Amino acid sequence: METDIQSNKLELLGKLAATLSHEIRNPLSVLKLNLHFLKIYSENVDKESYDIILACEVALERITKLMENILEFSRRPLDELEVTSINEIIEQAIVILNPVATKNSILFDKQLGENIMPLSVNRNKILQVILNLLTNAIEASNNGGNIIVKTARSEKNGSAIIRLVVEDFGIGIKESDKENVFKEFYTSKKTGTGIGLSVCKKLLEEHKAEIYFESQYGKGTRFFVDFPELNNR
Ligand SMILES: Nc1ncnc2c1ncn2[C@@H]1O[C@H](COP(=O)(O)OP(=O)(O)OP(=O)(O)O)[C@@H](O)[C@H]1O
Ligand SMILES: [Mg+2]
Repeated sequence: METDIQSNKLELLGKLAATLSHEIRNPLSVLKLNLHFLKIYSENVDKESYDIILACEVALERITKLMENILEFSRRPLDELEVTSINEIIEQAIVILNPVATKNSILFDKQLGENIMPLSVNRNKILQVILNLLTNAIEASNNGGNIIVKTARSEKNGSAIIRLVVEDFGIGIKESDKENVFKEFYTSKKTGTGIGLSVCKKLLEEHKAEIYFESQYGKGTRFFVDFPELNNR
Protein backbone atom coordinates (compact mmCIF):
# COMPACT_ATOMS: atom_id res chain seq x y z
CA MET A 1 0.00 0.00 0.00
CA GLU A 2 2.64 2.45 1.08
CA THR A 3 4.93 1.52 -1.80
CA ASP A 4 2.05 1.92 -4.24
CA ILE A 5 1.31 5.41 -3.04
CA GLN A 6 4.93 6.39 -3.17
CA SER A 7 5.64 5.12 -6.67
CA ASN A 8 2.24 6.33 -7.88
CA LYS A 9 2.99 9.81 -6.67
CA LEU A 10 6.42 9.83 -8.30
CA GLU A 11 5.23 8.32 -11.56
CA LEU A 12 2.27 10.62 -11.70
CA LEU A 13 4.47 13.64 -11.10
CA GLY A 14 6.82 12.52 -13.83
CA LYS A 15 4.02 11.97 -16.34
CA LEU A 16 2.33 15.22 -15.43
CA ALA A 17 5.59 17.12 -15.77
CA ALA A 18 6.35 15.55 -19.15
CA THR A 19 2.86 16.25 -20.54
CA LEU A 20 2.75 19.75 -19.12
CA SER A 21 6.13 20.80 -20.41
CA HIS A 22 5.31 19.36 -23.82
CA GLU A 23 2.03 21.27 -23.95
CA ILE A 24 3.53 24.48 -22.65
CA ARG A 25 6.56 24.49 -24.91
CA ASN A 26 4.79 25.47 -28.13
CA PRO A 27 2.81 28.44 -26.82
CA LEU A 28 5.99 29.53 -25.02
CA SER A 29 8.01 29.68 -28.21
CA VAL A 30 5.19 31.58 -29.94
CA LEU A 31 5.30 34.14 -27.14
CA LYS A 32 9.07 34.35 -27.33
CA LEU A 33 9.07 34.87 -31.07
CA ASN A 34 6.36 37.51 -30.93
CA LEU A 35 8.12 39.39 -28.18
CA HIS A 36 11.28 39.29 -30.24
CA PHE A 37 9.47 40.84 -33.23
CA LEU A 38 7.79 43.41 -31.02
CA LYS A 39 11.21 44.46 -29.78
CA ILE A 40 12.62 44.76 -33.29
CA TYR A 41 9.67 46.81 -34.56
CA SER A 42 9.27 49.01 -31.52
CA GLU A 43 11.87 51.64 -32.30
CA ASN A 44 9.29 54.41 -32.13
CA VAL A 45 7.44 53.08 -29.14
CA ASP A 46 7.56 55.02 -25.83
CA LYS A 47 9.95 53.91 -23.10
CA GLU A 48 7.20 52.61 -20.85
CA SER A 49 5.93 50.18 -23.48
CA TYR A 50 9.46 49.09 -24.29
CA ASP A 51 10.11 48.33 -20.61
CA ILE A 52 6.95 46.25 -20.51
CA ILE A 53 8.25 44.16 -23.41
CA LEU A 54 11.55 43.68 -21.58
CA ALA A 55 9.75 42.66 -18.37
CA CYS A 56 7.74 40.10 -20.37
CA GLU A 57 10.97 38.69 -21.77
CA VAL A 58 12.47 38.29 -18.31
CA ALA A 59 9.30 36.57 -17.04
CA LEU A 60 9.27 34.28 -20.06
CA GLU A 61 12.88 33.35 -19.44
CA ARG A 62 11.98 32.35 -15.89
CA ILE A 63 9.12 30.16 -17.07
CA THR A 64 11.41 28.51 -19.61
CA LYS A 65 14.03 27.77 -16.92
CA LEU A 66 11.36 26.32 -14.64
CA MET A 67 10.03 24.12 -17.41
CA GLU A 68 13.50 22.80 -18.22
CA ASN A 69 13.97 22.00 -14.56
CA ILE A 70 10.70 20.10 -14.30
CA LEU A 71 11.35 18.28 -17.55
CA GLU A 72 14.75 17.19 -16.33
CA PHE A 73 13.14 15.85 -13.19
CA SER A 74 10.57 13.87 -15.19
CA ARG A 75 13.24 12.29 -17.40
CA ARG A 76 15.22 10.78 -14.58
CA PRO A 77 14.76 7.07 -13.96
CA LEU A 78 12.89 6.02 -10.83
CA ASP A 79 15.31 3.42 -9.55
CA GLU A 80 18.76 4.51 -10.58
CA LEU A 81 21.37 5.67 -8.13
CA GLU A 82 23.62 8.56 -9.01
CA VAL A 83 26.53 10.08 -7.19
CA THR A 84 25.03 13.47 -6.54
CA SER A 85 25.50 16.51 -4.40
CA ILE A 86 22.62 16.96 -1.96
CA ASN A 87 23.17 20.72 -2.25
CA GLU A 88 22.40 20.52 -5.95
CA ILE A 89 19.11 18.72 -5.31
CA ILE A 90 18.21 21.39 -2.74
CA GLU A 91 18.90 24.11 -5.30
CA GLN A 92 16.60 22.33 -7.74
CA ALA A 93 13.84 21.99 -5.14
CA ILE A 94 14.12 25.68 -4.33
CA VAL A 95 13.82 26.66 -8.00
CA ILE A 96 10.62 24.60 -8.19
CA LEU A 97 9.12 26.01 -4.98
CA ASN A 98 10.32 29.61 -5.16
CA PRO A 99 7.18 30.85 -6.95
CA VAL A 100 4.91 29.41 -4.21
CA ALA A 101 7.18 30.72 -1.47
CA THR A 102 7.34 34.20 -2.96
CA LYS A 103 3.58 34.28 -3.31
CA ASN A 104 3.35 33.60 0.44
CA SER A 105 6.06 36.17 1.31
CA ILE A 106 8.41 33.40 2.37
CA LEU A 107 12.16 33.49 1.81
CA PHE A 108 14.43 30.46 1.65
CA ASP A 109 17.56 31.02 3.66
CA LYS A 110 20.13 28.64 2.16
CA GLN A 111 23.00 27.67 4.41
CA LEU A 112 24.60 24.95 2.33
CA GLY A 113 27.86 23.49 3.57
CA GLU A 114 30.83 23.64 1.23
CA ASN A 115 32.49 20.36 2.16
CA ILE A 116 29.48 18.14 1.52
CA MET A 117 30.54 14.83 -0.05
CA PRO A 118 28.50 13.68 -3.05
CA LEU A 119 26.27 10.77 -2.06
CA SER A 120 25.00 7.80 -3.99
CA VAL A 121 21.26 8.47 -4.12
CA ASN A 122 18.24 8.36 -6.35
CA ARG A 123 17.89 11.99 -7.32
CA ASN A 124 14.15 11.87 -7.90
CA LYS A 125 13.44 10.30 -4.56
CA ILE A 126 15.60 12.72 -2.62
CA LEU A 127 14.11 15.61 -4.58
CA GLN A 128 10.67 14.31 -3.60
CA VAL A 129 11.73 14.21 0.08
CA ILE A 130 13.07 17.76 -0.01
CA LEU A 131 10.01 19.03 -1.87
CA ASN A 132 7.74 17.41 0.74
CA LEU A 133 9.70 18.91 3.66
CA LEU A 134 9.85 22.37 2.10
CA THR A 135 6.16 22.25 1.19
CA ASN A 136 5.27 21.40 4.78
CA ALA A 137 7.47 24.25 5.98
CA ILE A 138 5.74 26.66 3.58
CA GLU A 139 2.30 25.45 4.68
CA ALA A 140 3.28 25.86 8.34
CA SER A 141 4.55 29.43 7.82
CA ASN A 142 1.25 30.97 6.85
CA ASN A 143 2.24 34.56 7.60
CA GLY A 144 5.48 34.67 5.68
CA GLY A 145 8.92 34.48 7.24
CA ASN A 146 12.09 32.56 6.57
CA ILE A 147 12.70 28.91 5.98
CA ILE A 148 16.24 27.81 6.71
CA VAL A 149 17.64 25.01 4.58
CA LYS A 150 20.96 23.85 5.91
CA THR A 151 23.47 21.10 5.10
CA ALA A 152 26.50 20.23 7.16
CA ARG A 153 28.96 17.42 7.75
CA SER A 154 28.66 15.93 11.17
CA GLU A 155 29.31 12.81 13.17
CA LYS A 156 26.89 10.32 14.65
CA ASN A 157 27.79 7.17 16.56
CA GLY A 158 31.37 7.52 15.36
CA SER A 159 30.45 7.70 11.66
CA ALA A 160 30.48 10.66 9.32
CA ILE A 161 27.08 11.89 8.21
CA ILE A 162 25.62 14.63 6.04
CA ARG A 163 22.84 16.39 7.92
CA LEU A 164 20.06 18.26 6.17
CA VAL A 165 17.97 20.63 8.28
CA VAL A 166 14.72 22.30 7.19
CA GLU A 167 13.63 24.85 9.78
CA ASP A 168 10.50 26.96 9.81
CA PHE A 169 9.12 29.50 12.26
CA GLY A 170 5.51 28.59 11.71
CA ILE A 171 2.69 26.98 13.65
CA GLY A 172 4.70 24.12 15.12
CA ILE A 173 3.40 20.70 16.18
CA LYS A 174 1.38 20.06 19.35
CA GLU A 175 2.91 17.61 21.83
CA SER A 176 -0.10 15.31 21.41
CA ASP A 177 0.31 15.24 17.60
CA LYS A 178 4.02 14.51 17.55
CA GLU A 179 3.60 10.74 17.52
CA ASN A 180 1.29 10.94 14.49
CA VAL A 181 3.14 13.01 11.93
CA PHE A 182 4.88 10.09 10.18
CA LYS A 183 1.72 7.99 10.09
CA GLU A 184 0.13 7.42 6.72
CA PHE A 185 -2.93 9.61 6.10
CA TYR A 186 -2.45 11.62 9.29
CA THR A 187 -3.07 15.26 8.45
CA SER A 188 -4.09 18.36 10.39
CA LYS A 189 -4.76 20.29 7.18
CA LYS A 190 -8.09 20.84 5.50
CA THR A 191 -6.76 19.88 2.10
CA GLY A 192 -3.90 17.62 3.18
CA THR A 193 -3.68 13.94 2.28
CA GLY A 194 -1.23 13.05 5.03
CA ILE A 195 1.17 11.08 2.87
CA GLY A 196 4.05 13.57 2.53
CA LEU A 197 6.03 12.53 5.59
CA SER A 198 5.26 8.81 5.39
CA VAL A 199 6.59 8.86 1.83
CA CYS A 200 9.70 10.75 3.04
CA LYS A 201 10.30 8.15 5.71
CA LYS A 202 9.95 5.26 3.28
CA LEU A 203 12.20 6.84 0.63
CA LEU A 204 14.83 7.71 3.22
CA GLU A 205 14.82 4.19 4.68
CA GLU A 206 15.78 3.00 1.19
CA HIS A 207 18.79 5.30 1.47
CA LYS A 208 19.63 4.22 5.02
CA ALA A 209 19.02 7.79 6.08
CA GLU A 210 17.15 8.86 9.22
CA ILE A 211 14.46 11.49 9.53
CA TYR A 212 13.33 13.10 12.80
CA PHE A 213 12.18 16.48 14.09
CA GLU A 214 12.01 18.97 16.93
CA SER A 215 9.04 21.27 17.26
CA GLN A 216 7.56 23.81 19.61
CA TYR A 217 3.90 24.54 19.17
CA GLY A 218 3.44 28.17 18.10
CA LYS A 219 7.16 28.68 17.48
CA GLY A 220 8.32 26.46 14.67
CA THR A 221 9.69 23.15 13.55
CA ARG A 222 13.02 21.68 12.56
CA PHE A 223 13.18 18.54 10.42
CA PHE A 224 16.49 16.67 10.27
CA VAL A 225 17.66 14.11 7.74
CA ASP A 226 20.92 12.28 8.45
CA PHE A 227 22.56 10.59 5.46
CA PRO A 228 25.46 8.23 6.09
CA GLU A 229 28.41 9.77 4.25
CA LEU A 230 30.09 6.52 3.25
CA ASN A 231 28.66 3.21 2.05
CA ASN A 232 25.25 4.76 2.14
CA ARG A 233 23.85 1.94 0.08
N1 LIG B 1 6.84 21.89 9.25
C1 LIG B 1 5.73 21.53 9.87
N2 LIG B 1 5.14 22.36 10.79
C2 LIG B 1 4.02 22.00 11.45
N3 LIG B 1 3.39 20.82 11.27
C3 LIG B 1 3.92 19.98 10.39
C4 LIG B 1 5.11 20.26 9.65
N4 LIG B 1 5.38 19.20 8.86
C5 LIG B 1 4.41 18.30 9.09
N5 LIG B 1 3.53 18.74 10.00
C6 LIG B 1 2.35 18.03 10.54
O1 LIG B 1 2.41 16.68 10.11
C7 LIG B 1 1.24 16.36 9.36
C8 LIG B 1 1.59 15.32 8.31
O2 LIG B 1 2.43 15.88 7.32
P1 LIG B 1 2.43 15.25 5.87
O3 LIG B 1 3.38 16.01 5.03
O4 LIG B 1 2.65 13.77 5.99
O5 LIG B 1 0.95 15.45 5.38
P2 LIG B 1 0.22 16.79 4.92
O6 LIG B 1 1.21 17.87 4.70
O7 LIG B 1 -0.86 17.05 5.91
O8 LIG B 1 -0.44 16.35 3.54
P3 LIG B 1 0.35 16.04 2.18
O9 LIG B 1 1.81 16.19 2.44
O10 LIG B 1 0.00 14.64 1.83
O11 LIG B 1 -0.16 17.04 1.23
C9 LIG B 1 0.75 17.67 8.82
O12 LIG B 1 -0.63 17.65 8.51
C10 LIG B 1 1.06 18.61 9.99
O13 LIG B 1 0.08 18.49 11.00
MG1 LIG C 1 2.91 17.52 3.50
